[in-house]
Amino acid sequence: MKHLIFVAIILILSIVFYVSSISHLHIVPVLVILLIFDKYKRGAKKELKAESSGKGLLFNKNVIVTGGSSGIGKCVAIAAAENGANVTIIARNPEKLVIARDEIDSACCNKIGQRIGCVVLDLSQDYEDIEEAFTDLEKQQGPCYMLVNCAGMSICSKIEDTSPDLVKHLMNLNFLGSYYCAKAVVPSMKLAKRGKIVFVSSQAGLLGIFGYSAYCATKFALKGLAESLAMELAPYNVSVTLSLPPDTDTPGYVVEEQSKLVETKLISASGGLVSPEIVARRLLDDALDENFFSTVGWESYVLTTLCSGMSPLSSFFELIFQTLLMGPLKMCSAFFHYHFKSIVIQCMTERENRKKIH
Ligand SMILES: *[C@@H]1O[C@H](CO)[C@@H](O)[C@H](O)[C@H]1NC(C)=O
Ligand SMILES: *[C@@H]1O[C@H](CO)[C@@H](O)[C@H](O)[C@H]1NC(C)=O
Repeated sequence: MKHLIFVAIILILSIVFYVSSISHLHIVPVLVILLIFDKYKRGAKKELKAESSGKGLLFNKNVIVTGGSSGIGKCVAIAAAENGANVTIIARNPEKLVIARDEIDSACCNKIGQRIGCVVLDLSQDYEDIEEAFTDLEKQQGPCYMLVNCAGMSICSKIEDTSPDLVKHLMNLNFLGSYYCAKAVVPSMKLAKRGKIVFVSSQAGLLGIFGYSAYCATKFALKGLAESLAMELAPYNVSVTLSLPPDTDTPGYVVEEQSKLVETKLISASGGLVSPEIVARRLLDDALDENFFSTVGWESYVLTTLCSGMSPLSSFFELIFQTLLMGPLKMCSAFFHYHFKSIVIQCMTERENRKKIH
């Protein structure tokens, strides 16, 4: 806690110094006005969309959600159904899939005019199987308008304790699963000259964390994929969104908690737990607004701003904020690194002391 207050003070001081050094302090009210204007404009745009579509933003659109039988994926599917979409969820477990489909079905805003389907598919398989499933799906119900890649899992273990098979499985599911699904829908989206692809990465897709050598690598990979695809698909009116949620209260998170190392727990302790409904709603809003990043909470926003570097821009205001904030935030990151390093050293010392006693 003391540490956080310290960081907050440094942050405020460095922002003030930074802003006053690049120009004069009167830029601050200008920024505040810009921010308010930006928020107002977005709010107005959203209202307009809701009005013009009448029955919902995704009325009569095909939405495919992978990992749609639980967690964030299920919440995305429910929110899309509430907005009038025809939703197909993809997951591995048939029983869970059917239960989730019924739940999504009851969330539809227009029961007769909407179709909720499910496909049993293991996304860690070869590309041919995935392509076949998508081809069948699009043959039955027309081109996909929005693909949301939520399927994924997380494990926490040190590199020497992680089996090569586990790393391969994680890479296959978290990265290749998303890559293959995107590859399968891109041709029809390009042809239709419209579409949205969403990748669900994580805050661990922006910074490396103790115990996540395998998981972080798969989530970093998604950022590279999303950035490249955004450039490739922009001329075809297809937008790409990268969601970077913090720890989310899902069944997957509960399993992950049990395997978490002490260091990892201490390092990730500062972030709270957000609900999957909030992550899902934000993700859909950002995808419909064609924002590249989708974040939840101020921590996630700050981290994304710090790591935005050469990432695609969503608005002029975003560019101004990122330009002004990146420098001071980099300064704050030094304190976090110092803090994380001291946790790791302390845990190691305690462990060695315990060994000596026994
Ligand atoms: C959505 O589902 C309804 C009901 O099955 C169908 O009439 C409509 O054509 C579908 N829309 C699209 C875009 O496939
Ligand atoms: C681009 O896609 C959006 C829907 O995502 C659509 O409303 C718009 O008309 C499309 N623009 C062009 C030029 O096709």
